[in-house]
Amino acid sequence: MSAGGERTFGVTLELVEVDTSDRRALTARWSDGAHAVLHVLWLRDNCPSGGDKASAIRTFSVADLDPSILIASAGVAEDCLNVEFSDGHQSKFEGCWLRREGGADTSLGSTVRTWKGSTGLDPLDFQWVRSAKGHHQLLEALVAVGAVVVHDVPRSPEGTEALAQRLGHVRETDFGRMFDIVSEPEVWELSQSTDALDPHTDDPYRYTPSGASILHCIEASDDGGRSVVVDGFAVTESLRADRPEAFEILASTPVPWIRHRSDAVEQGEAVHLRAHAPIIRLDAEHEVAGIRFHERSLGPLHLEPVLIGPFYDALIEFTRRIRSSDFQWEQALAPGEALVFDNQRVLHGRTAFASTGLTSRRHLRLCTVDREQAHSKLRLLRARFAPGTERGALAAGNLA
Ligand code: OGA
Ligand code: ZN
Repeated sequence: MSAGGERTFGVTLELVEVDTSDRRALTARWSDGAHAVLHVLWLRDNCPSGGDKASAIRTFSVADLDPSILIASAGVAEDCLNVEFSDGHQSKFEGCWLRREGGADTSLGSTVRTWKGSTGLDPLDFQWVRSAKGHHQLLEALVAVGAVVVHDVPRSPEGTEALAQRLGHVRETDFGRMFDIVSEPEVWELSQSTDALDPHTDDPYRYTPSGASILHCIEASDDGGRSVVVDGFAVTESLRADRPEAFEILASTPVPWIRHRSDAVEQGEAVHLRAHAPIIRLDAEHEVAGIRFHERSLGPLHLEPVLIGPFYDALIEFTRRIRSSDFQWEQALAPGEALVFDNQRVLHGRTAFASTGLTSRRHLRLCTVDREQAHSKLRLLRARFAPGTERGALAAGNLA
């Protein structure tokens, strides 16, 4: 055991065994019992002499890798693994790097906590969110809970922008950088009516829907217009548990999402956006990585006739759960309050307000940022406040 072990957060690279049967893989063992089986091609490809993959400074190409290369010898010294390959190349790997990247570190699970309607969301103060620790708390909550309310956000566009910058770069779309949800006498978009909106995710018709979204309340209605949010991951979890066949259908059937406007309108351009994707997106481990759902944007299904019935059965079940008060959390946002949510996890909607046909002074400003931006900022903050956890699985949700 080397004296240099302390540098690896108390984990010492203690022993290396070379698999002598074929010399194609070695097993590295750490003092806490963790181990990693490291393939010769993986080792040769990741030799530090080839440059740093993570920061895009990389000079080695796998095209130059001999697929039949062998491990000639290997040993441990001063918390490093030294390997000599059959072509004579020598590599030195730091124990902590090897443990982290070689698959031995299994401690970094997902922090996602699903919730039901009665749970409520913890509010954060905008001034606190401006501090580094508050910023970290905001982004952890966004990943763990999927939604958070920030209060006392200045109601100017600059105020919304300042909050958005805590998430990343504002995503500019055909609706502009920000979109004002106000009721209009001439409704060209349902959000401008005073009608209720069922819980949905925005932008299902985009190849990559928006990620972290902000609904910033500028003016509230004194008569309804309460915000409604649903944890889509909780809904899919419940569906998977008691209607597994419905879950599988929704996760495996791509359906058309459409937004088609041939006329430009005040806050938006003419567009014909189409995406073909399932309601539930799974990651490689079969975990739910994202929800895409807005009934209003779901185009006519082009499915085999025999699949239509089962698909509608599953869709009806999913929609009923989303509308059920078991899953819905409802709160009127006050002026200056902003709902920050993961648009690929949490569905949002509103209750009706004022009387249908009339306008209201209610005003919400919508602004979105890509999910990867928020996750990138969170990793940087974890490096500062929770070192060692920055690579932790942020998903279900680290896919686009
Ligand atoms: C929307 C929307 C929410 C609200 O327009 O897509 O979700 O509270 N609006 O008006
Ligand atoms: Zn919406």
